[in-house]
This record gives sequence, structure tokens and C-alpha cells, in this order.
Amino acid sequence: MTGHAYNSVRRCRTAIAKAIFTVGTTTALGACSAGDQTGDSGTPTIAAPTAEPVRVALANSPQSATAGIVFSYDATKGGTAFTGTALRYVVTFAPSANGLTATNGRIGGAPTVAGFTTATIVATDASGASVSNAFPIVVFSADLAAPTLPVTPYTYSDATSPLPAHFTLAVGGGRGVGGSVVAADNTPASNVTTDAGAALGRVLFYERRLSVNDRVSCASCHQQQTGFADTARLSRGFDGGSTGRHSMALQNARFYTRGRFFWDERAATLEAQVLQPIQDATEMGMTLDNAVTKLTLSSFYAPLFQAAFGTPDITSDRVSRALSQFVRSLVSSSSKFDRAFTNVTTGPPNFAAVFTPQEQLGQQLFNGQAKCAQCHETNAHLGDDVHNIGLDATLTDVGAGLGRFKTPSLRNVEKRGRFMHDGRFNTLEQVVEFYNSGVQNNGNLDGRLRGPGNQPQRLNLSQAEKDAIVAYMKTLTDDAFLTAAKFSNPFPR
Ligand code: HEC
Ligand code: HEC
Repeated sequence: MTGHAYNSVRRCRTAIAKAIFTVGTTTALGACSAGDQTGDSGTPTIAAPTAEPVRVALANSPQSATAGIVFSYDATKGGTAFTGTALRYVVTFAPSANGLTATNGRIGGAPTVAGFTTATIVATDASGASVSNAFPIVVFSADLAAPTLPVTPYTYSDATSPLPAHFTLAVGGGRGVGGSVVAADNTPASNVTTDAGAALGRVLFYERRLSVNDRVSCASCHQQQTGFADTARLSRGFDGGSTGRHSMALQNARFYTRGRFFWDERAATLEAQVLQPIQDATEMGMTLDNAVTKLTLSSFYAPLFQAAFGTPDITSDRVSRALSQFVRSLVSSSSKFDRAFTNVTTGPPNFAAVFTPQEQLGQQLFNGQAKCAQCHETNAHLGDDVHNIGLDATLTDVGAGLGRFKTPSLRNVEKRGRFMHDGRFNTLEQVVEFYNSGVQNNGNLDGRLRGPGNQPQRLNLSQAEKDAIVAYMKTLTDDAFLTAAKFSNPFPR
């Protein structure tokens, strides 16, 4: 078909070339009608002005190029991209040529940097009538590869990778110091985690193609070995810019009852949240359309979307659903703390069997006198709500309003390196000292952090007690989670 069309147009063009040469009138140019294309091209027919109007016949689709590698593409599609007669072609590039050149509609040259270039080809006929067709040339970074996925897929769903009993049964006491997290699950019925959905989500989570210049992925700011947080106070986006707040750890995000995301809870659902970093001007710098275009041009994605959603179609909604499934699969349940449950077959957890005396003291203080468990609760160590904890007497960031911020899960908190929404503390010792003696008075300070006379609490903990609380928090480090292959980077490095 294409070959036929190509030939047809060529023969017609030959006729017109002669027409221009021999007749030199625009009337003659109209002679190359559809009928002429199959006829004798030797002599142009000078007839009624039935010039075929110039219009787009076969629009160009997005094209894939690689930075530093010569790109060659005929935007006229061998003369089939447009109908019309005696067409001349001009290609322009926006926002810049990025090393590309064009001659007569043929694009060449080696693009310099990864990113999007819009090519616009304008076809003009001899009468001066013109039409244009714009399409993206996606320049990928040269150091990208396809992911390596296991022959036997990893398990992520509740059916294949069940939650431990101490997460689902009300063992170990009430909500504050135990209790089932099932009721806290923010998984919507419309996006239940499947093995294939989370497997796709894992690839997307580590996908640098989701940033405009292929420099950062979600995992750049949410690193597995830190509990999917970042040890930097502020994280770096695709162009080196700093994020406005400290990155958040992601394990057990599935069980934040309020189901809202970000330090200030500005995302109403996880499904809404995961698309925001992609579009954030500092973080990944993309549009969702461009993200879908880049994934569509990467051939390994169609089978992954097919497996996850039943058809190979790539949409931003599916990207959102798969990323959310992966984030919800990040359940940490195999720390030293958890062994107190898994070591016993029936009855309450046996902390004495797994904790040192110091860790046991820390646990008692955490659940009791120091009041930590009033906000950091359940066996999954979830945050309950947003609170103003009195970090500052005068607010510099209002967070969710009134200086309230989301309470993080304390799972793997030891590995985070920086603490609080602005990453102001470097050590857990500083955090505990803050709760012990540093809580600032302000009108919106949470009542749980007030003491006698409504003043900010002063816990008056001894050094041994402060050390014990830190030691207890370190029992929440889950090395199996932090090194699990199913949560790791599938791309070769
Ligand atoms: C450039 C660094 C950066 C990148 C890239 C990034 N994030 Fe984040 N992420 C952050 C920061 C910073 C926050 C906290 C921002 C805030 O609350 O204002 C955050 C918050 C989150 C939260 C909220 C957690 C909670 O408990 O409320 C989730 C979920 C999340 N990111 C997932 C992702 C996903 C998925 C991607 C990739 C599509 C991604 N992030 C890419 C830095 C980044
Ligand atoms: C009134 C509720 C409340 C109480 C009580 C409370 N916290 Fe917090 N905790 C929070 C909130 C809210 C944040 C996040 C605040 C922010 O970043 O602005 C937080 C943050 C933290 C962090 C930093 C986590 C991170 O990812 O940066 C640690 C560690 C922590 N709390 C430990 C404790 C300990 C230990 C105690 C007891 C001594 C305690 N908390 C008592 C609500 C509470």
C-alpha cells in the first residue's frame, strides 16, 4: 500500500516538475489530479483547476532518538505525509533544534541532550497554500536499558504474600500498642494490589524515563536502603533543584488510615499523589502526556501493562494505579520487634525473648511515660493523624494548616538519616531530646505534647531513658525489607 502511494505521488510529481518547467503556470499545477497519477505522466494535462488541496494525509507519530547518536527520519514519509502538489517542505524545531537539522523534510543530526523536541513540518504547494504537522521527537539518554525481571514473578498481593498475623489480629493490646491494621488499610476497592500490577509499579518506580531528562526516578529520592526515604535534608530534582521539604519514607504507607498523602496531606489519595512528582517542576518536570509518550516508545512496557491490566494500553491512570500498588506493597513486618510475635505460636508477643533490657525499657517509655505511642501507633508503627508538635514557636511552614504535619511510620526510622518535614534533625538522639526538652509553645501545639499548666511538655528523661527510647526505635529496623529483591532496582546499573 505504502509503496503504491509513494509511487503514485512520485509519478505525479514528475508530471508537475515538467509542468512547472514547460508551462510555468499555476493552472497547470492543478492538472495532477488523482486520475492522472495512474495515467501517462509524460504530458501534463491542462484542464480545470482541480488542484488537490494540501492537507495532512498520514500524520507523523512520536519518534524516538538517543542523545549523541545520529538520528535519521523522513518527516514526509516518502512523500505520503501530505497530499497536494509540488510540495516543498520546511521543518522547524522547538524549543530548540537540540543538534537536529532538516533538509527537504528529512531530519538528521545527532541530538545533544535528553528531552523533548517538537518537530513541525510545513508542506507548501506552489500556490503558497500550506499545512503543518507537529510531532515529538523524544531524545532518550544513552545510558538507559530495559529492566531485568525474574522468570518467576515476585509476589506482592495479599493472596500470594499474606500480611503477618500480628498485623491482622488484635494481638498485643489496643490501637496504641498493637491491634489490627486491617481497618487502617487505604487500598481502594478499585485498585487492589496484584502481583503483575505491583511488578509494573516497581519498574515505573525505578524508571528514569519518567523524568524529562532521564536523570531521576522516584527511587532517586526514595531509596530502599533508607526505608524509601532520602538521607539528604532536601532532595535533588531532575535539574539539580531542591525539593521544598524533606522526602518521606514509604513503608507501611498503605496503613495510614486517613488515606491522604504528603507531609501536609494535600493529596487525597495515593493514586492522586503518585502522579504529582512526575509533573512537579522541580522533581521530574514532565507532563503526563509526555510520560505516556515516553513509556509507549519503550517497547518493554506493552507486555507489562498487558499483564497488569489485561490490554497493552499505556495511560496515566494505569501508571498511577501500578505505582500505587507498588507503594502499598512496601510492607515492613520482619524487624526485631516483629520477632516477638513470630516467635510465639499462641498468646501475646514475647518481647523479653527478643529485646535487650534497654530496648524493653525504651518500649515501656515509648508506650507509656513518653507518650510516643499516642501518635505513633499499632504493630505496623503508623502515624495516626496530622499534628503540630511544637517544632517552632513561630511557624515557617503551615503544613496541613496550623503547623500540622503528617505523623510518619517509624519503621526503619534509624535508616532515614534526617528527621521531620524539613529534615532539621540528623540523629534520633536529637529527636528524642526535642520531645524531652525542646517542644515549643505555640497556639496550635497538640494537647498530647502539653504538660502541667498547659505548658509544652518537659519529660525530664534521664540519659539512660533517652538512650533506651532510641534503642527501641532501632528495633524497628527491618533488614529483610531494606534488601528485598522484589523492592529493588530492576534496571541494570
Ligand atoms: C526529587 C525528589 C523526589 C522524587 C523524584 C519523588 N519524590 Fe516522592 N516525595 C519527595 C518529597 C520531598 C516528598 C514530601 C513532599 C511534601 O510533603 O511536600 C515526597 C512524598 C512522597 C509520598 C508521600 C508519602 C506519605 O506518606 O504521605 C509518596 C507516596 C511519594 N513521595 C511517592 C513518590 C513516587 C511514586 C515518585 C515517582 C513517581 C516520587 N515520589 C518521586 C521527593 C521526591
Ligand atoms: C502528638 C503526636 C505525637 C507524639 C506524642 C509524638 N510524635 Fe513523633 N511525630 C509526630 C509528627 C506529627 C511528626 C512529624 C512532624 C513534622 O515533621 O513536622 C513526628 C515525627 C517523629 C519522628 C521523625 C520521623 C521522620 O520520618 O522524620 C520521630 C523519630 C518521632 N516522631 C519519634 C517520636 C518519639 C520517640 C516520641 C515520643 C518521645 C514521639 N515521636 C511523640 C507526632 C507525634
